[in-house]
This record gives sequence, structure tokens and C-alpha cells, in this order.
Amino acid sequence: MTTVLYPGSFDPIHLGHLDVIEQSLELFGDVVVAAMHNPSKPSGMFTLDERMAMIEESVGPLRAARPNGSVRVVAFPGLAVDAARSEGVDFIVKGLRTGGDFEVEQQMAHTNHAAAGVRTVYLPCKPSLVFISSRFIREIAKYGGDVTAMVPAPVVPQLARAAARDQS
Ligand code: PNS
Repeated sequence: MTTVLYPGSFDPIHLGHLDVIEQSLELFGDVVVAAMHNPSKPSGMFTLDERMAMIEESVGPLRAARPNGSVRVVAFPGLAVDAARSEGVDFIVKGLRTGGDFEVEQQMAHTNHAAAGVRTVYLPCKPSLVFISSRFIREIAKYGGDVTAMVPAPVVPQLARAAARDQS
């Protein structure tokens, strides 16, 4: 079995992320989802603990559907390559939605390989989900909009709660 690391901000996890986790489970069998602290994105909505809890709840059905596979959720405040090393994974996986993602991910993949010899594999996101982004989900939720088509069910009430918290 191959073990892969799927790092991200997951602020919050959405259906595109879940698709990448599902593809990784199907292809490799063993997935470590790492909720990273990204210093260049200080304007997030959720704490690391909240993001982890939402990921845990959201991957429940995938675990049940694939009892032979493994999904672990970890928090990591440092570099993705250090998370890859400490979790002993074979490589990193990333989802690609658009050409814009490719530009960013290609640079990160080369940097991670040059810095630490860690390889990255890209997975194409499901076409029906390529428009989804955590940034827009946060923005819609902040103004009370409906994001149920974009996030796993457990995330919906958490977005409403965080939006209310941010306004108080
Ligand atoms: O979900 P995101 O915000 O697109 O994920 C980006 C993330 C967290 C995977 C990326 O910023 C990252 O790997 N951060 C950890 C710090 C790091 O390794 N930086 C060097 C990147 S080459």
C-alpha cells in the first residue's frame, strides 16, 4: 500500500477536497490529511482544531465506504515536507482545478523536491467541483448565503456559527 500526504489549509474543507481524498484512497489506499497552518493566509475563519474536527467528520462516510483503506487526519504547523517526513509518506498529493492552480502547485512541487526530495502527484478535480474554493465559501457564509452545494454536510452549521462569531 502506498501512503500519501494531502496537505492544505482546509479553511473549511469542501467537496473538492473530499473528492481528492476519495481519489487518493482509491488509488493509493492510505491517506494522511494534514491541516497546515499557512502564515500567508492569516485571514482564515477557523482554528486548526476546528478545521481538524470538520475534516474528521467529513471523511467518516469515506472511511465506512472503504474499510480496507485508511484516512488519518493530522495538524501540522510547519512545512509540508516536514509533515511528509514525520508521517513517513511516499509522496504528496494535490488537487488541480484550473491552470491557475497548476502554476502555483508546480512551483511548490519543484520547491519541495529541491528542498527535501519529496515528490508531488497531481490529481485532477472532478469537473463538477472545479469552481469550489474555501475563500468564496467563507465569503458567502459571512453574508448568510447558501453553501450547502459546496461543502460536506457537517461543515454547514460550523460556517453559520463561525460567521455569527465573526460578527459579534
Ligand atoms: O489549501 P491551500 O491553502 O491551498 O494549501 C496550501 C498549503 C497549506 C498546502 C501550502 O501553503 C503549504 O504547503 N504550506 C506549508 C508551508 C510550506 O511547506 N511552505 C513551502 C511551500 S513550497
